[in-house]
Amino acid sequence: MKSIQSLNYSVVFNKEGHQELSSLLSSNSYSKVFILVDKNTKKYCLQKFKTKLNLDFTYELIEINSGEINKNLETCIQVWNHITNLGGDRKSVLITLGGGVITDLGGFVASCFKRGIDFINIPTTLLSMVDASVGGKTGVDLGVLKNQIGLFANPKMVVVDEDYLETLAEREIKSGTAEIIKYGLTYDKSLFDEISTNNYKNINTLIYRSIEIKNEVVLMDPKENYLRKVLNFGHTLGHAIESYFLESTKVKSLTHGEAIAIGMVCESYLSTKIFDLSIEKLKLIKKTILEIYTKVDISKNYYPEILSLLKHDKKNVNGQINFVLLNDFEDYKIDCKVSEDLILESLDFYNS
Ligand code: GLY
Repeated sequence: MKSIQSLNYSVVFNKEGHQELSSLLSSNSYSKVFILVDKNTKKYCLQKFKTKLNLDFTYELIEINSGEINKNLETCIQVWNHITNLGGDRKSVLITLGGGVITDLGGFVASCFKRGIDFINIPTTLLSMVDASVGGKTGVDLGVLKNQIGLFANPKMVVVDEDYLETLAEREIKSGTAEIIKYGLTYDKSLFDEISTNNYKNINTLIYRSIEIKNEVVLMDPKENYLRKVLNFGHTLGHAIESYFLESTKVKSLTHGEAIAIGMVCESYLSTKIFDLSIEKLKLIKKTILEIYTKVDISKNYYPEILSLLKHDKKNVNGQINFVLLNDFEDYKIDCKVSEDLILESLDFYNS
């Protein structure tokens, strides 16, 4: 597969990606190589990664605890301490081998360590392949508030290889699917059709096209001044719902994709109410999403806290909640304001 050129790095695929990385590492431009993993990627992906690199090289492994709950500054401090104690310097490189938590946190750690060292993303989940590892957003959560601390920093390269998905649980594959649906609804409906009809038969094509779309948007608006906000479709309500379920002791956490899928149903409802998205299309979106994701009970008791979390969304400006809505498939509106009543109605719609 042809590599995709981003701002000042490439997304390189499969064998060619690993070969390019091997050449980079064997050129001895780095004083030390660190590989950041979690328990799962250490178990399922590290050996595969080394075999694919086919290179005899020395590295230091840094392992952090898995899961969004650990995507915080405490974990960053642990990693910075490890890198320091293991002799990391400005010429070190950090390879992030994992899902969105590893690539977001690892990119942030690398970008702040001694004012910035190189990092290379090897996404091992569908979510990080099609979204997190590409586009230069790095960061961590602040309490339950998602990605509140972070910066834009580009990796040196990204290597995408669907082989890493082999051991991924179905729930995690579905988590990444939500981002592909987002690209489908906002940018290229064929992705949405492929997901709703073909049951992941062409996963390679879905991954490739998703990265192409994300990259196209990021190249036009790297720092999210305007256009890049389209990538937040489903995420305004989705992040608030994800945070609520992460924080609450009464309910089990949702994956990012499960929350974003609920967000897309609600925000499609808002689109029908405020813009021209037809009721038939709204119904198709809801049906497709509920065929993939088990319906979640968003009790009315949760509404006040979800609204309060929405008010902390990092995309808000002057306390105003901003939504991306659809006028139609592949036709979106950015910076839409919605009344609280309508937001609650959209949750009722999801529940109905
Ligand atoms: N995940 C949305 C973005 O990278 O802009």
